This record gives sequence, C-alpha cells and structure tokens, in this order.
Amino acid sequence: MKVAVLGSLNMDLVMEVERLPRPGETVPGKGFTRYPGGKGNNQAIAAARLGAKVSLFGHVGDDSFGEELLRVAREAGVDASGVERIPGVPTGVALILVAPDGQNQIAYAPGANGRVSEAYVERVLPVLREADVLLLQLEVPLAPLAFLLRKLPEERPLVILDPAPVRDLSSLPLARVDFLTPNREELGHLVGGAVTGRDALLQAARALLATGISHLVVKADKDGAFLAESGGVTRFPAYRVDAVDATAAGDAFNAALAVMLAEGRGPYEAIGYANAAAAIAVTRRGAASSLPTREEVQEFLRHPSARQRAA
Ligand code: RIB
Repeated sequence: MKVAVLGSLNMDLVMEVERLPRPGETVPGKGFTRYPGGKGNNQAIAAARLGAKVSLFGHVGDDSFGEELLRVAREAGVDASGVERIPGVPTGVALILVAPDGQNQIAYAPGANGRVSEAYVERVLPVLREADVLLLQLEVPLAPLAFLLRKLPEERPLVILDPAPVRDLSSLPLARVDFLTPNREELGHLVGGAVTGRDALLQAARALLATGISHLVVKADKDGAFLAESGGVTRFPAYRVDAVDATAAGDAFNAALAVMLAEGRGPYEAIGYANAAAAIAVTRRGAASSLPTREEVQEFLRHPSARQRAA
C-alpha cells in the first residue's frame, strides 16, 4: 500500500517553558532542542514507521537544516527523492514552546515550503496520483493544493486533508477531499465560531459536509476524536496518558488514519488506531522523534491499560 505526502519540512526549535506566555509576556525557558519536523515530514515519517511505502514531496532550502531533514526522512524509510532543494531560500523553521502539561504554541516561517508551486505539482503528479492515500496539510501555499485536487482522478487516491495551520478553504475543491481532520480550534475557525458542545459540533459538521467532504474527523485532544458523516456523529474516546509534548500528535493521528485506510480498513477501525498512535506521540518529546512504530502501536493496543494513566 502506497501513501504519498505533499507538505512541509521544518526544523523545529523547541523550548520547554514553565507555562505558555500571554501576549507581551516573557516566561523563563528550560531546555532548548532542535528536532526534525514540519507537518508533511512528520506525517510521512509516521506513515513509514507504521509500515507504509511512503513518498514525500515538498521543498527544503540548500542549507544544513534541509540536508538534515532529508537525511532523517530517508533514515526513517521515506522516499524523499521528490523533495526539491531551492537554492538561496532557507528551509522552513518552526519555533515551539512546550508547557509541562504538553500543550504547545507554534509559529513557523515557511521558507522553502512557500515555494511549492503548480509547476512542481505538475512534475510530481504521476507519483501522487498512483498512491492509495494522499496526505495534505496547509503549510504549503493553497493554490498548488487546489490545482492538485482538481487534477486527481476521482477513483484514487483517497485524500486526507489536515487543515493546519487553519486557513480559509473556499478556494479548494473540497468535494475531492475524503477526510478533513481539524482539531476543535481549527473546526471553530472553519465554521466561524467556537465549537463547544455536541450540538455545535453537529452543526459545524453539517456545514462542512455540505461542501462535499465525505468524512469529517475532529481531533478533540482529551475528548478523543469524532467522526461526522452524513449518517451522524460517532465519538472515539481518547486514551489517558501522561502527556509531555503534544507536538506532532495530530500528525501521528493523520498518518495512522492514512495507513489503516490504505490497507482497506474501515474508518471506525482506522480512527481507533489513530487515537492510539497519537496517544503514544504525546508521551514523547519532539515531532518526528515522537512518532511510534507499528509494533509500538500494536503493543499499546494489546495492553492499553498498562500505558494509560490511572483515572
Ligand atoms: O504538527 C507539528 C508540526 O507543526 C511541527 O513539527 C512544526 O514544524 C509545525 O509545522
């Protein structure tokens, strides 16, 4: 089964802080570390660790961060030969603050990710259209994503779009998206208002399903995940674990969903599996470094209570 990813590669510069700062505030930091990241890169590495044959597409600069990101992706088993290096442009960088409860704040400078273009998509289209599942996120420009979605054949690949960082999606042909996977904040942004209770979730789901998306999967952190289809909404409870860093948990989730769907599993099984992959990722620091292998997810699912924090 083949998974293709078109997305970002970032070097993450991460500081642990006592708490996340408010606007204008300075807070003391503790450790400072550099981790390979970027939503596209994380999802590609996660899918490879979960057993898929993965091709990653995107851009890095011709600097040492780009070199390192490509090396780490290759070492994880990802085919990154389609990632192009853009001369004179820096590789994408993310600044990440992580609080003791694992919650984070992220700002990123796209650098080379911002150079992904329609011409590039045209060049790599023959590989993208052969994938069983295609993973997309929003750390690259929207125009080439819209172009790609319009060019894809109806029957394949299945498309999973992670609307992060959230943006207005009205320029995208959403009827070509099979799974849209916002978190709660992103969902609120997409429908123009906070989504707090179940009724608000149902209303938001109805609005998004009306755009032609077939499945809406809401990643709701400690509340688990929700699947909204035309038939209604189903909740998948979260695993309770000791969180140290939520970075890339959403990427682990999307990659696991992709791998399961590529293997022909149904959405219910795939989302349960994705919840487990995300739960493991939040117990580890960093982005790519936190992503579990297939064996680790299987072990977790065999003995979930052993890994979960006591209630
Ligand atoms: O989803 C986590 C990722 O978001 C980080 O690795 C960072 O690079 C930002 O893009």
